[in-house]
Amino acid sequence: MKNFINLKDIPAKDLRKIITDAKKRKNLRKKLNILEVDKGAPLKGKLLIQMFEKSSLRTRLSFYLAIKQLGGGTLTLRSNELHLGQGGESVADTAKILSTYGDGFMLRTDNDKKVENFAKYLSIPVINGLSPSSHPTQVLSDVFTVEEIKEKPISKLNICWIGDSNNVLNSLIAASVKFSFKLSIGCPKKFEPGKEVRAWVKKNNKKIYIYNDVKKAVSGADVIFSDKVISLNDKVNKKKKIKAFKNFKINKKLMKLSNNAIFLHCLPRGDEVSEDVFLGKKSHVWQQALNRVHVQKSILLYCFRKLR
Ligand code: CP
Ligand code: NVA
Repeated sequence: MKNFINLKDIPAKDLRKIITDAKKRKNLRKKLNILEVDKGAPLKGKLLIQMFEKSSLRTRLSFYLAIKQLGGGTLTLRSNELHLGQGGESVADTAKILSTYGDGFMLRTDNDKKVENFAKYLSIPVINGLSPSSHPTQVLSDVFTVEEIKEKPISKLNICWIGDSNNVLNSLIAASVKFSFKLSIGCPKKFEPGKEVRAWVKKNNKKIYIYNDVKKAVSGADVIFSDKVISLNDKVNKKKKIKAFKNFKINKKLMKLSNNAIFLHCLPRGDEVSEDVFLGKKSHVWQQALNRVHVQKSILLYCFRKLR
């Protein structure tokens, strides 16, 4: 079994293998209905237990469909309904029970340590479905979407992120190292990526380009990503932070300064992007959201060591 916790810790060749598998599987499903099972039902009889400590629409639905299409099933837990969430049971004991009843565990939490702790005590694979420090399933799927739309390897493209230095950006930075693509980041000085992630990039002999001028950041971009300024785990002064980002809103004028870029956003959205860009021709956000099903299927197969 293999865990899927952080892109930084997964070999580049394994990440590429997941994407290649997802491409093949997506093509083979063109004529199938949404709940029909892939040929060979590779995860027949397997149970994925999902637990959400925070809200989710897309991650919840896409994992449900992913395991179903592979022949398995899922059970979704809310942590506040468990003894663990009430403080009456340890992670170790909860993990033991999850490993006895289920075959895989997907966790969304606002505590990175909890993911690590579960990984320590589970004897089944654990998947990080978003934590304060990363959102690896989202970003791997986004790499897939970029290559699908642009019809070329992401390493040949200029990728731009306009927004906060949050979990999604951390995973995008990790992806830029693993897949060797150029990443430009546009954000206010105060919200630049932290020292730790920058040091990791340097240690891997790679570079990220950070601009406090949004126009410079988007110049030459083939893809522009954004995300909410305020994330689920953000405990900052929200008004102040939103104000700091007021010059970083993505609108049609800004898009024109790019290299005819497409627009991607993991959703949910806030005010960081104008309605006409979000719903415009260059936006592929709905395709991006649906692709999570396809990529997560291959992530599950990777975790169960069933990737072809
Ligand atoms: N993009 C994403 O993870 O969406 P949810 O929070 O709805 O799962
Ligand atoms: N950065 C956002 C992503 C939501 C999918 C958050 O953590 O809330």
